[in-house]
Amino acid sequence: MTHVKNICCIGAGYVGGPTCAVIAYKCPDIKVTIVDVNAIRIAAWNSGRLPIYEPGLDEIVFARRNKNLFFSTEVEKAVNEADLIFVSVNTPTKKTGVGAGYAADLAYVESATRGIADVAKSSKIVVEKSTVPCRTAESMRTILEANSSDDIRFDILSNPEFLAEGTAINDLLYPDRVLIGALQTPEGLNAQKALVEVYAHWVPTERIITTNLWSSELSKLAANALLAQRISSVNALSAICEATGADIDEVAYACGRDARIGPKFLKASVGFGGSCFQKDILNLVYLSEQLNLPEVAAYWKQVVDLNEYQKKRFVSRIIKTLFNTITNKRIALLGFAFKKDTGDTRESAAITLCKNFIQENAKVRIYDPKVSSEQIYMDLSEPGIVDNTEEVKKHITITSSAYEAADNTDAIVIATEWDEFKTLDYEKIYDRMNKPAFIFDGRLILDASKLQNIGFRVHTIGRAAI
Ligand code: UDX
Ligand code: UDX
Ligand code: ADP
Repeated sequence: MTHVKNICCIGAGYVGGPTCAVIAYKCPDIKVTIVDVNAIRIAAWNSGRLPIYEPGLDEIVFARRNKNLFFSTEVEKAVNEADLIFVSVNTPTKKTGVGAGYAADLAYVESATRGIADVAKSSKIVVEKSTVPCRTAESMRTILEANSSDDIRFDILSNPEFLAEGTAINDLLYPDRVLIGALQTPEGLNAQKALVEVYAHWVPTERIITTNLWSSELSKLAANALLAQRISSVNALSAICEATGADIDEVAYACGRDARIGPKFLKASVGFGGSCFQKDILNLVYLSEQLNLPEVAAYWKQVVDLNEYQKKRFVSRIIKTLFNTITNKRIALLGFAFKKDTGDTRESAAITLCKNFIQENAKVRIYDPKVSSEQIYMDLSEPGIVDNTEEVKKHITITSSAYEAADNTDAIVIATEWDEFKTLDYEKIYDRMNKPAFIFDGRLILDASKLQNIGFRVHTIGRAAI
C-alpha cells in the first residue's frame, strides 16, 4: 500500500489553503506544499497577513509554515516531489459558450491536470478537490492516462470539501464526515486507502466515508443543493408569514424541533450567497438537462429562482415602505459580506440590494467590518451592475463604523448578520437619523420591540411590520 509522505496542493484559494494547512498541522510526518500561479497570493500566504480571513487559520499556518507546510509558485517542482496531488483550482460558472450561466468552467481543472501529466516523473494519486460536475474525474483520468507511460500511473480520487466559510478551521478539524470516492479497481481502492490513512491522523475512521467516484462527485453538489433548498423553503414561508401575521422564526423553530427536520439551515434571510450554493445548483440543473431530465432541472432551478425573488421582494418592501420612492434618500447598508465572520462577498445578497438602491438613485452608505472598500467598488462596478467605479462612487459612501453609516439616513438595512449589529447603541443612532427612521432587518437579528420603543419603524423578513 502507498503511504503518503509528500502532498502538493494546486490552488491556494479558499479551499486549498485552509484544507492543506490543516493537513500539515495534523500530519507533521507529511510535507505539504501549496502552489499557485498567482504570485501575489503566494507572497501573502508567506507573509504575516494571510490572503484570506478565517478564524483560527493564522495560528495553524504560523505553527507549521516552513516546517512541513510550504507555499510556492514552483508548481512543477512541487508536483514532481509529491506522491499525492490535490487539485483545488477555481471552477467558476461559465460566462460564455455552451452552458453559459449554468455549467462549470473546467478550463482551470483541465490546465492543472495537463500540467501534472506534462511534468510527472513518477506515479501520482491525483485528488479532485474543487467542486466539479459529475464525471469530471473521468476527463481528468483520460488526460492523465493518455500522457502516462509504462512506469508512471495516475490514480484519481474524488474528495470534495464541505467546509463553510467563517468556520472553515473548525469544520476541517472536526468534520461531520470526510468523503473519498475511488474507482472500484484494486489500484483505485489502494489509492483510496492511502488518502484514508492521511485523514485518519485526526478524523475518527467511522467518519470517513468511502464510495465510488461518481457518488462522491454527486454528493458534493447534492449536499449544497439540499442545504440551499432548505433556505429557499424557509424564505418562501417567510413571504407567507409577512402576509399573515405568522412569525418565520417561530415557524422555523416549531418545524426544526421535529427530529426528522432538525433545526439547522432554517434561518430566513434576505437570500443565500457565497461561492458554492448558486454555482453548484446551476451545475446540477445543467447536468440534469444534459441527462434529458427537464423536470429534475426545473425542480432545482426553482431553488435559485426563489432566492432571487427573496432579494427582489425585500427591495420592493423597502421602496414601498419609504413612500414608494428612495430617490435621493440616504440608506445605511450594514454588512456587505455574504455572511458574518468572513470578508468574502461572492454572490452576496448585499450586492443585489445595493445595485437596486443605486438604480433607484438612492445614496447608499455602506459599512462592513471585514470587506475592503476596493472589494465593494469592484463588486458594484462589474459590467451589468454599474459601468465604472467613478459612477459607483457618486452613489455610495463606504464608512468605517455602523454609526457613521447611519448618520442622517432615512433607513438602515441589515444585509449581513454580524454580531456587532446586535449590540449597537440604537438610541444614539436613532437621534442622528432623519424621521421617521426605518430599520429593515434582512437577517432577523434585532430586537424589534425594543427598537420600536426607541421610535424606529421596524420591518423584519418573515414578520408583518410593527
Ligand atoms: C406524515 C408525517 O410524518 C406526520 O408527522 C404528519 O402528522 C402526518 O403526515 P404519515 O403520512 O403517516 O405521516 O407517514 P410518513 O412516515 O411521514 O410517510 C409519508 C409518505 O412518505 C409515505 O408514503 C412514505 O413511504 C414516504 N416517505 C417517507 C418516503 O418516500 N421517504 C422517506 O424518507 C420518508
Ligand atoms: C456552503 C456549505 O455550507 C459548505 O458545506 C460547502 O462546502 C460550501 O458552501 P458557505 O457558502 O461557506 O458554505 O456558507 P453557509 O454557511 O452554507 O451559508 C451560505 C449562505 O446561506 C449564506 O449567505 C448564509 O447567510 C445563508 N444562510 C445559511 C441562510 O440564509 N440561512 C441559513 O439558515 C443558513
Ligand atoms: P476556491 O474557492 O475553489 O478555493 P479560489 O478562486 O479561491 O477557489 O482559488 C483557486 C486558486 O487556484 C486561485 O488562486 C488560482 O490562481 C489557482 N489556480 C488556478 N489554476 C491553476 C493552475 N493551473 N496552477 C496553479 N494554480 C492555479
